[in-house]
Amino acid sequence: MRLAALAAVVLLAACGSGEDAAPPERRPVDIPDQPGESPIPHEPKPIPADLRGDADEGAVIYGQFCAMCHGPGGKGDGPAAAGLNPKPADHTDAAYMGSLSDEHLYKVIQGGGAAVGKSPLMTPWGGVLTDDQIRDLISFLRRISGT
Ligand code: HEC
Repeated sequence: MRLAALAAVVLLAACGSGEDAAPPERRPVDIPDQPGESPIPHEPKPIPADLRGDADEGAVIYGQFCAMCHGPGGKGDGPAAAGLNPKPADHTDAAYMGSLSDEHLYKVIQGGGAAVGKSPLMTPWGGVLTDDQIRDLISFLRRISGT
């Protein structure tokens, strides 16, 4: 009798282990599954007056948050780019990047593509990045595009 009870307990424990499995580890920033969804809700903010920051800092932030789509060198060829239509912008294209003002870059990074009439596949970063970090990114974009 005792053995049978023990067996039942062992069996139950074995069956339950699947359901009790630890949840998958969360990534530091929860990249949304649905394009266009902001990871963290945020309100659009007024555009700061000075939009230039530290390009070296921007490079680090870019590698962390932008390179997966825009590519490590900014050419729009990141690992996630293949499945995207439209394709992520080529940030080394001087003619195109030169046509975008700093205010436009701030708006599109802060509020996402939808904030400037572009594709929502360009996700909003205002809930993740500070104004200083967005300024750093703008300076980095100016550096790699030579604009
Ligand atoms: C999930 C993929 C993805 C990530 C991550 C991403 N982008 Fe984009 N981005 C896009 C796509 C797609 C477009 C093209 C939108 C269009 O042409 O309608 C784009 C366009 C842009 C543009 C051009 C906007 C314009 O007016 O043409 C800028 C600037 C930009 N992204 C900056 C960034 C920065 C900076 C980051 C990191 C903070 C970033 N993106 C992260 C997908 C992404």
